[in-house]
Amino acid sequence: MTISARNGISDGTGIDRDSPAMDPAAILARQRERESSARTYARTLPIVPVRAQGATIVGADGRSYLDCLSGAGTLALGHNHPDVIQAITAALSRGAPLHTLDLATPEKDAFVEELRASLPPGLGSDVKLHFCGPSGADAVEAAIKLAQTATGNQTMLAFTGGYHGMTAGALAVTGNVAVKNPLPAVGSVVRLPFPYPYRCPFGVGSVPDRAAGPDGAELSLRYIERLLDDPLGGVTDPAGLIVEAVQGEGGVIPAPDSWLRAIREITRRRGILLILDEVQTGVGRTGRFWAAQHSGITPDIVVMSKAIGGGLPIAVIAYRAELDVWAPGAHTGTFRGNQLAMVAGRATLRRVRRDGLDERAARLGSRLLAGLDHLARDRPHVGDVRGRGLMLGAELVDPTGTADAVGAYPADPRLAALVRAECLRRGLIIELGGRHGAVIRLLPPLIIGDEEAARALSILADAINAAVRRLTAVPTPSTGREAG
Ligand SMILES: Cc1ncc(COP(=O)(O)O)c(C=O)c1O
Repeated sequence: MTISARNGISDGTGIDRDSPAMDPAAILARQRERESSARTYARTLPIVPVRAQGATIVGADGRSYLDCLSGAGTLALGHNHPDVIQAITAALSRGAPLHTLDLATPEKDAFVEELRASLPPGLGSDVKLHFCGPSGADAVEAAIKLAQTATGNQTMLAFTGGYHGMTAGALAVTGNVAVKNPLPAVGSVVRLPFPYPYRCPFGVGSVPDRAAGPDGAELSLRYIERLLDDPLGGVTDPAGLIVEAVQGEGGVIPAPDSWLRAIREITRRRGILLILDEVQTGVGRTGRFWAAQHSGITPDIVVMSKAIGGGLPIAVIAYRAELDVWAPGAHTGTFRGNQLAMVAGRATLRRVRRDGLDERAARLGSRLLAGLDHLARDRPHVGDVRGRGLMLGAELVDPTGTADAVGAYPADPRLAALVRAECLRRGLIIELGGRHGAVIRLLPPLIIGDEEAARALSILADAINAAVRRLTAVPTPSTGREAG
């Protein structure tokens, strides 16, 4: 027990819950009243974080939550890692300028040095970096502009299920129809089929026996090649092809390495620039420092954000030097010089590299995937589990529905939402993604402890059981006595 200023007693959390400013229900009510209906996480995770460390968030309600969302995959080192805090504190205490446009600073110089040292070697020692506005979406915009400028072509190739951000150009290459529907189409984008064995875009394969039937990934490659080479195919000369090595928001769908290598070849042979969006997969998340390293491909342009800023906003593209043909100011923005993000990011990149946290993500991720697989065995509502490293997903289905031609049952978004709520009740933060929001996503920090990871799995299992019970509960018939 410690003494708090207001009522004299606190429970050791350091939170004075009697303070009106700290009343979580009131804070949440004010948020509901004052903020837009387009808010997202705040709708489904009604918590008020007040402190956080590692994989734990403490809410204003005094409860601790195990964070398996980690800022949508941003917090590779978890919350408030000592390296990050130390780097930020040091920058503040030496009076480093916080806002510097895109000017050179010692902080930026050191960040660039560290980032370059981590990049896939194929990009070359003369690789160029461009600092963008501080969101992944802005870096995607920059990558598209660069590809268009360097090739002189306009058309972009993008995939079903792809997610690249919410600004106009990034949204144009994103798949999510619901958010695109009310808006005018931006630019020429040709949508290509991403391999997704559970719900194959070609409707082939077999869920019960993955080795049986035609291979959807192979069909995707044949289709792309034939489409691009068809003089009547309707595709004007493409500038670039943008792809995620593991689709994240799209429902945690890893692309096969061989498929990515073939995509590299297809694009290379046709002079189409390959843009790899590593915004979510980067910095160890998938079990290699960059997801490109699993397949060994060298993209022409790499898009980076999220974890490279150690929890603070920053976004950068890296590209082959000969593409550096755009004019000064071709992609500008006021907030491209976030010094604190640079020092936090440098500390994060170093720690991930020094401690081999990418390898740890691979090891722990395999164990968690096996755990999810095990959990799915006697739970028919878990239709599919998949992932790479610490980017994991479980697709929830309605096993009483009619299976499609491939053997997949209909997605069950209601169940998924209930599971998320049951997880939160038990102190676990997870998010949903994928088609209809029916995929449970686990994106824990790379430093999550073994015991914490096991706890997350066990809470998830309980939450699925509880959610299925709630969903399938037959309402008790009324006796008629309640009324009297
Ligand atoms: C692969 C990918 N690209 C781009 C973005 C957009 O990043 P931001 O939300 O920072 O604009 C995201 C965000 O989740 C992402 O996962």
